[in-house]
Amino acid sequence: MTPTVLEAINRQISNEFSASFSYLAMAAWCEHHQFTGAGHWLRVQSQEEHAHAMKLFNFVLARNHQASVAGIEPSRADFKSLLEVFEAAQKQEHVVTGQIDGLYELAFTEKVFAAMAELQWFVTEQVEEEQVIREIVTKLRMVKDDPSSLLDLDRELGARSAAPTPGV
Ligand code: FEO
Repeated sequence: MTPTVLEAINRQISNEFSASFSYLAMAAWCEHHQFTGAGHWLRVQSQEEHAHAMKLFNFVLARNHQASVAGIEPSRADFKSLLEVFEAAQKQEHVVTGQIDGLYELAFTEKVFAAMAELQWFVTEQVEEEQVIREIVTKLRMVKDDPSSLLDLDRELGARSAAPTPGV
């Protein structure tokens, strides 16, 4: 592993922890506003982001380097609506996709093949995460402020089960 790639992966560990905290803050807003299904969905998402951070943490250690955990970004905790929460989530995932793509490109440029193999999983994961959140945002835009549709959607979000992250 080159020092540049190591530093970039260590930075991404913090980015994934930041995403985890950010989703937890969104879950808190939702549950405080009685959207318990959305709160559950976001808690699961927060756990997944924690697992992403740990997957990279474990990878760095497996390559015989010291993983680092730096300070994380403060999380946004104030929203006007459920739609605004998921729009923020969508924006966050776009940012993470950019981070992962940049990291993959760096590993490619520096010919760190083990990192490329590890990061391939994240590239695929981002496609799935962006798709899932795009669907939720689209549905929320459709239902607008209709209470019964919002409650249906909240119930649907509450049915999410956690998926294991390989390598954690
Ligand atoms: Fe770990 Fe949602 O990206």
